[in-house]
Amino acid sequence: MGAKKVGVLVGRENTFPLPFIDMVNQRGAAEGVSAELAVLGGTAELEEPAHAVIVDRISHEIPYYRAHLKSSALMGTVVINDPFWWEADEKFFECTLARKLGVAVPKTVVLPNKEYIPDIDHEKSLRNLQHPLDWEGIVAYTGLPAVLKPNTGGGWKDVHIVDSVEQLVTAYDTSGLKTMILQEFIDWQDYVRCICIGREHILPIRYNPRAPFEERYQISNPPTGALRDESIKQARILVDALGYDMDTVEFAVRDDVLYAIDFLNPAPDFDNFSIKEDNFQWVLEKMTDLVLAYARGDGKAPWRGEHRWWNHIPTK
Ligand SMILES: Nc1ncnc2c1ncn2[C@@H]1O[C@H](COP(=O)(O)OP(=O)(O)OP(=O)(O)O)[C@@H](O)[C@H]1O
Ligand SMILES: [Mg+2]
Repeated sequence: MGAKKVGVLVGRENTFPLPFIDMVNQRGAAEGVSAELAVLGGTAELEEPAHAVIVDRISHEIPYYRAHLKSSALMGTVVINDPFWWEADEKFFECTLARKLGVAVPKTVVLPNKEYIPDIDHEKSLRNLQHPLDWEGIVAYTGLPAVLKPNTGGGWKDVHIVDSVEQLVTAYDTSGLKTMILQEFIDWQDYVRCICIGREHILPIRYNPRAPFEERYQISNPPTGALRDESIKQARILVDALGYDMDTVEFAVRDDVLYAIDFLNPAPDFDNFSIKEDNFQWVLEKMTDLVLAYARGDGKAPWRGEHRWWNHIPTK
């Protein structure tokens, strides 16, 4: 690999990418590291990667980027975040994992889809599915109100709070091709969102999901004491297990218990207008530290060597 370049893949976000690239260029110059918006247009197998590190903010929407990233990871690029695991990860799996790790999560059930692609024949192709669903039994587990939301996704899209089986079925009927989960609604007294970088640096911020979008991060009222310590501890357990170098982890707090609500945010909101300036500066610093360390070769990507095929690649 030639010069040590950090590439950034971005969607339409505007406030994070360029200041991040500027900071990496400033701080990396002395050690020969530079940063840029990566430009990709058709990747050949065994192509020598142009980037030592790629920060991926958008491959969940642009499948070609994902294909490129998987191949460059194999060729030696450190990709933030792991493109293989991100592709496989789901909220329901994460709930099961959290329980195994001793982190509290709402009681959760994953549901069969409402609809399928046209080639699926409802009589012939779905013989393994119980029909109709036992809505009463499902709700007996989660309780009411409950939250119906996609098993993967973000931006609060298709998140419904339902108070009755009737409302649940009405909301479910609009879910189309999406796989949905149904969750116990945590009637919280407090709420914390943690920005997590490098699986180690955790910034807990008080968050009010009931406020309008740009006022949700409550910077004037930071979590302190046990709440702060506990959010850092629990968030670290989750991101370390998942191997995400950038993520946000949300906790709803009910009766002093922190329930992890959403921790599948591998391209977290870094916009300065939502997280606010001080937190934005913290993100720029920690992300810069992280990519410079990887570019330098300090530490390997958490996922390197973890798939079976790594063991079959001849070493030089
Ligand atoms: N089980 C729950 N109990 C209480 N509130 C919940 C629960 N699940 C979701 N919510 C509320 O709905 C919001 C959106 O849910 P969630 O974070 O899972 O969706 P998302 O689309 O991934 O959101 P984001 O884009 O903010 O990551 C949460 O911030 C929270 O306020
Ligand atoms: Mg999310």
